[in-house]
Amino acid sequence: MATRHFLSLLDCSPLELQNIIARAIELKAMQKQRIDHAMFPNHVLGMIFEKSSTRTRVSFEAGFAQFGGHAMFLSPRDTQLGRGEPISDSAKVISSMVDIVMIRTFAHSTVEAFAKYSTVPVINALTDVYHPCQLLADVQTFVEHRGSIQGKRVAWVGDGNNMCHSYINAARQFDFELAIACPDGYRPDAQLVEDNAGRIQMTTDPRVAVQGADLVVTDTWASMGQEDEKAERMKAFSGYQVNDELMSRAASDAIFMHCLPAYRGMEIAEDTLDAPYSVVWDEAENRLHAQKALMEFLLKA
Ligand code: CP
Ligand code: NVA
Repeated sequence: MATRHFLSLLDCSPLELQNIIARAIELKAMQKQRIDHAMFPNHVLGMIFEKSSTRTRVSFEAGFAQFGGHAMFLSPRDTQLGRGEPISDSAKVISSMVDIVMIRTFAHSTVEAFAKYSTVPVINALTDVYHPCQLLADVQTFVEHRGSIQGKRVAWVGDGNNMCHSYINAARQFDFELAIACPDGYRPDAQLVEDNAGRIQMTTDPRVAVQGADLVVTDTWASMGQEDEKAERMKAFSGYQVNDELMSRAASDAIFMHCLPAYRGMEIAEDTLDAPYSVVWDEAENRLHAQKALMEFLLKA
C-alpha cells in the first residue's frame, strides 16, 4: 500500500480525522493515568526544523518518547540540508533510516518534494501555507470543551495566513461554518476561499465575523519569515485585536484559541490568554496528544 503522508488536512478523510481526534482524547487519558503505551519501541522520528519552534518540537519529541521510540532533531545549520543537498536525495537517505518524519519549513513545495521521495510517512509541522497539526489540537480542544464542532460557527480574526488556510480546510473536513475577518491585502488564498465558498463568510470587520461565533481564533500578525513586514503589518491590523469587547459580541459561551506564540497588546489584549473564555493552554497541550494519535495512525496505516 502507498505510504500515507499528512501534508494538509485533506490527506485524511473526514472519518479518519474524527478517529484521530477520538484517539487523541483516549491517549491523553492514558498519559494522565500513566498507562503504558510504549507501542513503538526501536522506532525513530526524524524532526526537520527550518524555522523556530517550542510547542511543535516539545510535543513531537515528548510524544515519540512516550511511545517508546526516539526522536531526532535535525536542523539545516548542522545537516547537509542547509548546504544545498537536494530535498529528493535527503528524503531518500533520511527515510531509509527512520520510521516517520516531520518537517517545519518555508515553502509548502519542500514538504511535498520530501514526501514524494520518502519511503516513510511525512508530517507537515508548518509551512508558509498550512499548519494542519495545530488544527488537530484545536478541534480536539473544542470537542473537549464544547462537544462536536460540526455545524458550529468559527470566527477567524486577523491574517489570512497558514493557520487561516488550515481553518478553511478544517471547515470542510469537520463541517463547520467559518467567518474570516481580514484587512484587504491580507486575505487568505483566493482559490482556497473559492473552493470552499459555501461555508466561508469573508469580511473586513472583526465584529461581523465574531457575531454569534462559538469559537474565536486569531494568530500573530507577522508570521515567521515576515519579520521585515512587521511595521506595516502592525498598522494594517490595528483594529483586529481580540479583547473582551470583541469577545462580548460572540456567542455567550464562546471560547477563544490562539496557536501561540502570542503577542500581548497586538493581536490579543494583555489578559486575553488568561480570560475565562480562553482555552489556549489546553490547546497547546493537545498538540502532544493529537500528534501522538496522528503518528499512530500513520505508522499503522
Ligand atoms: N503553535 C506552534 O506551532 O508553536 P511553535 O511555533 O512553538 O511550535
Ligand atoms: N502563523 C504563525 C504560526 C506559528 C505557530 C507562523 O507561521 O509563524
